[in-house]
Amino acid sequence: MDWRSDAARNRALWTETNREHTNDSAETNWALDEISWGIWGLDEAHLNVLGDVAGLDVVELGCGTAYFSAWLAKLGARPVGVDITPAQLDTARRMMAATGIEFPLVEADAGETGLPDASFDLVLSEYGASIWVDPYRWVPEAARVLRPGGRLVFLRNSTLVILCSRDEEPAGEQLERPQFGLHRTEWPEGGVEFHLAHGEWIDLLRANGFEVERLLELQAPHDAETHPYYAYVTADWARQWPAEEIWIARKGS
Ligand SMILES: C[S@@+](CC[C@H](N)C(=O)[O-])C[C@H]1O[C@@H](n2cnc3c(N)ncnc32)[C@H](O)[C@@H]1O
Repeated sequence: MDWRSDAARNRALWTETNREHTNDSAETNWALDEISWGIWGLDEAHLNVLGDVAGLDVVELGCGTAYFSAWLAKLGARPVGVDITPAQLDTARRMMAATGIEFPLVEADAGETGLPDASFDLVLSEYGASIWVDPYRWVPEAARVLRPGGRLVFLRNSTLVILCSRDEEPAGEQLERPQFGLHRTEWPEGGVEFHLAHGEWIDLLRANGFEVERLLELQAPHDAETHPYYAYVTADWARQWPAEEIWIARKGS
């Protein structure tokens, strides 16, 4: 499958999603002053994923409406947002005009950003390239644009929740698809996602000069309720098994 046709399908999906949903959630998310992770809104202050980001050059791959980059800008980082969907970037620009928080946005595929080599301290993806782009394309691109010693941080669905999911139903308590050969996953009503097994992630990261520092498996808090929009997993499921995970890897110096 040519990556361009997957990218075009995902761009069409995100153009439609933007039309239906994204504006309200962009306003809510841009208004937050604290970084929050994942569908259960776990605090950065508690998880301590990023540490001090002040003064860092950051690129967000698949930035969508760019609220994560806006949070980083509020903390003194210099973000650049990359996304392939013009409608998503239009929303980000509207939010910039409304809030006065400005940073560059680049319309590009996350596997071919066109950004200069070794120009960032941190590459971030929050459900952007981390699930919508083939990791065998975007991880090398992340390595290319990072400076030596720079960090790659990405949030994705856990491999386990994908293995326990079938079609659009919430994840169940049994395996619904094979792990071997998972990689490219088409959803009936949606786009094309990319998921690897943990061993494949480690091999891919190491092959691109990264050392894995942490893998955080996120647990839903005891009082969390199933999210009305991200209903592919119930809060009860995510209290028992990790539905989301954050990878932190560092490029060798
Ligand atoms: C869940 S959203 C991004 C998350 C962002 N944190 C947000 O919620 O607004 C996924 C984004 O990935 C972008 N995307 C999908 N395929 C892409 C590609 N090949 N290159 C760059 N961005 C891509 C979509 O356009 C969409 O804006």
